[in-house]
Amino acid sequence: MAKGNEKAKSFQSPRGTHDILPADEVLWEKVRDSMRAISVFYGFERIETPHFEDTDLFVAGVGRNTDIVAKEMYSFKTRGGDALTLRPEGTAPVARAYAEHGMMNLPQPVKLYYLDSFFRHDKPQRGRYREFHQWGLEVMGDESPVSDAEVIRVFTLLLEDWNLKDYIIEVNSIGCPVCRSPYRAQLTAYYRSRLRGLCRDCRERFRENPLRLLDCKEERCAIIRKSAPQLLDKLCESCRNHFRLLLEFLEEMKIPYALNPHLVRGLDYYTKTVFEGFLEEPAKAIAATPEPVGGDNAASVDGGAATPAAAGDGEGPPPSAKRLAVFGGGRYDNLIELVGGKPTPACGGALGIERFVGIIRDRGKVPVVPKPKTFFVQLGELAKKKGFRLMEDLRHAGISMAESLGRDSIRSQLKVADRVGAPFALILGQKEALDGTVILREMSSGMQETIPQDKLVETLRRKLKH
Ligand code: HAM
Repeated sequence: MAKGNEKAKSFQSPRGTHDILPADEVLWEKVRDSMRAISVFYGFERIETPHFEDTDLFVAGVGRNTDIVAKEMYSFKTRGGDALTLRPEGTAPVARAYAEHGMMNLPQPVKLYYLDSFFRHDKPQRGRYREFHQWGLEVMGDESPVSDAEVIRVFTLLLEDWNLKDYIIEVNSIGCPVCRSPYRAQLTAYYRSRLRGLCRDCRERFRENPLRLLDCKEERCAIIRKSAPQLLDKLCESCRNHFRLLLEFLEEMKIPYALNPHLVRGLDYYTKTVFEGFLEEPAKAIAATPEPVGGDNAASVDGGAATPAAAGDGEGPPPSAKRLAVFGGGRYDNLIELVGGKPTPACGGALGIERFVGIIRDRGKVPVVPKPKTFFVQLGELAKKKGFRLMEDLRHAGISMAESLGRDSIRSQLKVADRVGAPFALILGQKEALDGTVILREMSSGMQETIPQDKLVETLRRKLKH
């Protein structure tokens, strides 16, 4: 409490986080409902893992030199001395849970989904938060490219259900350790003589993770990249077949895709398939976006999703329309073993819910909030008390209701009833409360009738039908 003349501090949500207010929840819940329904239909079961994990899980799983692990994790030591991290992504925790709970003994594949929030200490800007939400899908225990295709298909179904049909999927294969290690050597040899022309970040990437040289957004690096050897040309037979089949599935399903040989993504666990799904942001939404303030983190990768075309990265002046990476993922055949399980092929992806909701809102596709069917108006103490039973009758009958129990005057309550758009008001005064009746008022005409309370549900059902 503020003392004497001391002014109370007014708090705001921490930088890069946001509240989802009741008015926003209508859209958020509709979106989450679609995600739950699609997941369940395609045989995915919900999994929830802790908000924090052993820091080493992400170091081992996501990779020590990735931007996420090196720059963006919220890590802390507990009072007991454990090193923990707020989860920056969901795949390593789900892989850990799969191994820890012996899910390899269940019929395979095990298909899991999550709707959770994640934490990255990234530079906040439009579509990029420090706490954000993802809808994730993971298929564990299947090596066939049909699983990669299914994950992509399920994400695109959500977009189509919401009438967002102008998406494009970028796909690439980054091979397996067998084909990647000779390729890495070739790439390193190519870049060694061109180091001087690269940006500072890329000179660092050259030492730590040369594959990431392929996704830099700096123009001078993009020029050098043009003649770099491409992994797609050097895939081993197994990876080449896997990729060819995946593309065949995508074509069969008529999913619009583009090959992006420079798509490597920002997480080290990927093998073979990597993909990213883009939508265009309307120019007006971008123009309305305030420039990110300050910034205490130099990270420039789009939420770990690293493609040269990835948008929302805030580098350079905003173009007239920008593409936004809405979902991304790939195959991770070695991750489960890396976090303590048996070797298990797996793949998956995650969709950023803030970005999805933002696009829906910008394009004016916000669902209409359903109006309550009735509004309960009470007058006097007895009516207030008796009213609860009536409200329960409505709830059990599935008839929606709004009320304003804090108000006493009938006029002000009817005004609210009008504002919320309820077609019927139920008025309970002292007299009605005593003789077991209720006044049913049709809001549009003002016509009223008094009916026994035990006939209310039946009468309402009949009237609402019309
Ligand atoms: P990711 O590409 O880092 O992949 O994130 C997936 C999606 O989450 C992005 O496409 C973006 O829409 C959203 N996202 C990422 N960072 C932010 C942020 N800071 N603010 C708002 N939205 C963000 C992964 O996280 C992998 N675990 C996906 C995966 C699942 N791969 C295999 N299975």
